Amino acid sequence: MRRTILNLEESKIREVANAGLGRSDVLAFWFGESDEVTPDFIRQAAIDSLQRGETFYAHNLGLPELRESIAQAMTQKHTAPEGLEPIQAQRIAVTAGGVNALMLAVQALVDAGDEVVAVTPVWPNLTAHAVIMGAKLRTVALTAQRHKSAAGNAGAWTLDLPKLLSQITAHTKLLIVNAPNNPTGWTLSREEQSAILQHCRTTGTWILADEVYENLYYEPTHNDCAPSFLDLAAPEDRLVVVHSFSKSYLMTGWRLGWLVMPQSMELAMGKLIEFNTSCASVFTQRAGLVALERREEVTPRLVQHLKACRDTLVPALQLLPGVQVASPKGGMYAFFQLPGHTDSLETAKRLVSEAGLGLAPGSAFAPESSAWLRWCFASKDLARLTDGVGRLERWLKIQSQT
Ligand SMILES: Cc1ncc(COP(=O)(O)O)c(C=O)c1O
Repeated sequence: MRRTILNLEESKIREVANAGLGRSDVLAFWFGESDEVTPDFIRQAAIDSLQRGETFYAHNLGLPELRESIAQAMTQKHTAPEGLEPIQAQRIAVTAGGVNALMLAVQALVDAGDEVVAVTPVWPNLTAHAVIMGAKLRTVALTAQRHKSAAGNAGAWTLDLPKLLSQITAHTKLLIVNAPNNPTGWTLSREEQSAILQHCRTTGTWILADEVYENLYYEPTHNDCAPSFLDLAAPEDRLVVVHSFSKSYLMTGWRLGWLVMPQSMELAMGKLIEFNTSCASVFTQRAGLVALERREEVTPRLVQHLKACRDTLVPALQLLPGVQVASPKGGMYAFFQLPGHTDSLETAKRLVSEAGLGLAPGSAFAPESSAWLRWCFASKDLARLTDGVGRLERWLKIQSQT
């Protein structure tokens, strides 16, 4: 087997979750998903499709009507308000989940030995794909703010833009960036996106922008979503934007996502999809189509609820002695450090066994966040979050007495 594959790190989030599997007394917030089932009308669309006998292979790049619907939704959100060219359906590829879209983009753009720069901490799958392809990966770390300042809250992570730009040179094939970010909640500003885009145009670097959390954004905006590279880019810019049905439509288990690419990539992407998954399943795409058509019935309510989750969890955590945690503008995670606990993998395992609380260790996302813990606040029941904080508080009290 390839040494690169043998050396891939196993998921540390799984390692913690495995320690608590089958224990009904554990409150689990370790995975990045809501505990709410996909809305009924979306499930019904898949059932109807199966009942019609749609059980066959389909187009590599997705059902034409789904590609069209995605293109219209993306245009409405991003290019129409900015007066940019509409996003054509030929620029859309439907994929078997956001993670599949990320992998396809990296397969399409990165040769073994190519230099890839990624902004971290980040969900480990984003960097693993480049490693699997044999790329030379370099990371640029966000910085955690220790004290409250004009630039933001204590516990918030910020980007040193000049540092990032200095790391992207004519040798850099691809920049990978995820904002709103999993796990830190950090979000790129429009000005930062513009500077990155301009810089990458001069160095000839591709941008792979993971914007799967764009709708889960809690600041007021004209288009109800986080700033996107699509608000700025020309159709043939070297830009691939990755999206997912998982987060905004409560569809994690369906494995459905998409990417927006320059139209010149369409043929190559179709070939790559053929050799990876051949296509996303038709009944899943039918469900996705209905989810998009009726998105106003799902996403605004979900975002409002997630905001309530955030505003329940974060202030409660901030009351714990020594805990610094910023309220994220986007995403569905609170990211924080516990005073005196520097090994997050060990802490997360102990929290499972001693407190019945399941969190993800920050070491899963980058060395610079190895002392941090991630709490997914997408909980249908707000009381679960309060209960979780109570467990953490009791555990911290016991630690301080021993
Ligand atoms: C930043 C980020 N990108 C992509 C994904 C992939 O989502 P999916 O493969 O479920 O569409 C996730 C899932 O947690 C994520 O956090």
